Amino acid sequence: MCGIVGYVGYDQATPLILSGLKKLEYRGYDSAGVAIYDGNKLNLVKAKGRLQILSDKLDAGAQLKGHLGIGHTRWATHGEPSERNAHPHVSYSGKFAVVHNGIIENYIKLKEKLLNNGINFYSETDTEVIAQLFDYYYNGDLLDTGLKVMAELEGSYALGIICDDKPGELLAMKKDSPLIIGLGKNENFIASDITAVINRTRDIIRLDDNEVALLTSSNVGVYDKDKRLLSKQVSCIDWDIASVEKSGYEHFMLKEIMEQPKVIRDTIKSKIENGEVFFENISLEKEYIKRLSKICIVACGSAYHVGCIAKYIFEKILRIPVEVEVASEFRYKEPIIDDSVLTIAISQSGETADTLAAIREAKKLGSKVLSIVNVIGSSIAAASDEVLYTLAGPEVAVATTKAYSTQLAMVYLLALYMANKMDKIDRSEYNNYVNELLYLPSKVEDILKCRDEIKSLARKFYSCKNVFFIGRNIDYAVSLEGSLKLKEISYIHSEAYPAGELKHGTISLIEEGTLVVALANNNSLFEKMISNIKEVKSRGATVLSITNEKHQEIDEVSDYKILIPDTIDIMSASLEVIPLQIFAYYIALFKGCDIDKPRNLAKSVTVE
Ligand code: F6R
Repeated sequence: MCGIVGYVGYDQATPLILSGLKKLEYRGYDSAGVAIYDGNKLNLVKAKGRLQILSDKLDAGAQLKGHLGIGHTRWATHGEPSERNAHPHVSYSGKFAVVHNGIIENYIKLKEKLLNNGINFYSETDTEVIAQLFDYYYNGDLLDTGLKVMAELEGSYALGIICDDKPGELLAMKKDSPLIIGLGKNENFIASDITAVINRTRDIIRLDDNEVALLTSSNVGVYDKDKRLLSKQVSCIDWDIASVEKSGYEHFMLKEIMEQPKVIRDTIKSKIENGEVFFENISLEKEYIKRLSKICIVACGSAYHVGCIAKYIFEKILRIPVEVEVASEFRYKEPIIDDSVLTIAISQSGETADTLAAIREAKKLGSKVLSIVNVIGSSIAAASDEVLYTLAGPEVAVATTKAYSTQLAMVYLLALYMANKMDKIDRSEYNNYVNELLYLPSKVEDILKCRDEIKSLARKFYSCKNVFFIGRNIDYAVSLEGSLKLKEISYIHSEAYPAGELKHGTISLIEEGTLVVALANNNSLFEKMISNIKEVKSRGATVLSITNEKHQEIDEVSDYKILIPDTIDIMSASLEVIPLQIFAYYIALFKGCDIDKPRNLAKSVTVE
């Protein structure tokens, strides 16, 4: 969703802001703009469409000189994507420019008030009210005015504000949308995330909700809503720059697929010592775990799919009932939750608005919340009682791959940790799981070596119109992810079905040549899968099966197959998702799609 970059310092602001916005492109956007103070006035340049169009207009920054500025990539919510609605928005006198990520829920009321005071509006956005409010309340002090404006706003916002009266000041405010401050030498930045500033600084302050920051080139002051100066922690980010570059790969998605052995290994090894799963800084006491009546998992998209797999794993190993809820549904359904329920939230970005709201709802009802999160210090991490960090590193492609895989690894670790505490697992079984976990990364490596084979299959199928993914048990949960990967980046319609359910209606869509991807890794359900594959085959489907080396007999019912290494049933998810990611990637490549930035999608969904 919208990306924000702001700069105050001694260098030229425009190229720095453009390069920061480029790093935020992955978040998804449909227009972009900058406002730069040129020593005299605020200059505004905007463009609909790709950032490159804005950059061309600005001659890559050479056209607009100045040492203070804000920039924005907009993902439209209020008003169509257009130059008029693109940010920054300016106030009626031209004094203030504002960039905003989030939604101002009371903007209609605020707009009416301003209209009644003779202030006219030019855009359809909610954001414009903020620029107008700044002008309306301005008393010569940017910080004071910011606090006054903040008191009027309802909803979510990360804001960057500049004023032509204050050539050396950049104001930032935040509630429920992410914003960081990058601390440089004689320069300071604001940004929606670290990737935008990592090539200039690694020292970061994360703004918390209802905080306002006033930045100059030499100072950053962070204040609460009552203008009390806060002492904020500075974190040094150890991500290397290569992690936000393509490093020779054509797309971030492929690079991130290829990074999976490393990040899965890092995540697993960070939590295993001397053959034992250990979670430092986590307090899930034996007594607490033993009296749990239920686990409730909340997440969105692919993270929700990890939750679907986790349900099978937890229920099998822990024998505790597990509910998995799409976070946007959970929050409005009056969930049956109390302090005997452990809520587990899963999120890569740690900023997904619906997951965050679900966490708050669960906590309100007395549940302890444990989050599996990739981004350190993110809003979801801050809102949770306990946090387990995945070590996927920055994920840039909109479609998740490596974060999904590390979330899954963390689920296995958590299941083992809890089972051990509950005395639900004997030593040899426990050791067996731990050993197999440690082998997973090298098995993923083996699958990645076969990517040319999967690429050839993608070449065969890239023009198909409909694809069905079927599987049973965990294979079904993985097929949800395989289907999402394919549709989101290649725009091919696809659906995932429990293999036994297809015949209750959807099988009528199978016709001559329809591609069915059959996941058949669950060893105990293999024979059942064979029957289900025969059902679609006899109705004309072309079947691509994904199974493990033990099941060579899949040849009898499949047109094509991908073999993956054998593993313990519950861990097969980590392996079978890899060919599905590669398959989706190459199909999208052959179709010429914008793989890293699929249409209409945003990486970090910070609005409801
Ligand atoms: C799909 C994808 C999304 C995210 C979802 C949740 O490839 O990436 O479905 O999984 O938007 O995002 P996070 O994990 O950041 O909460």
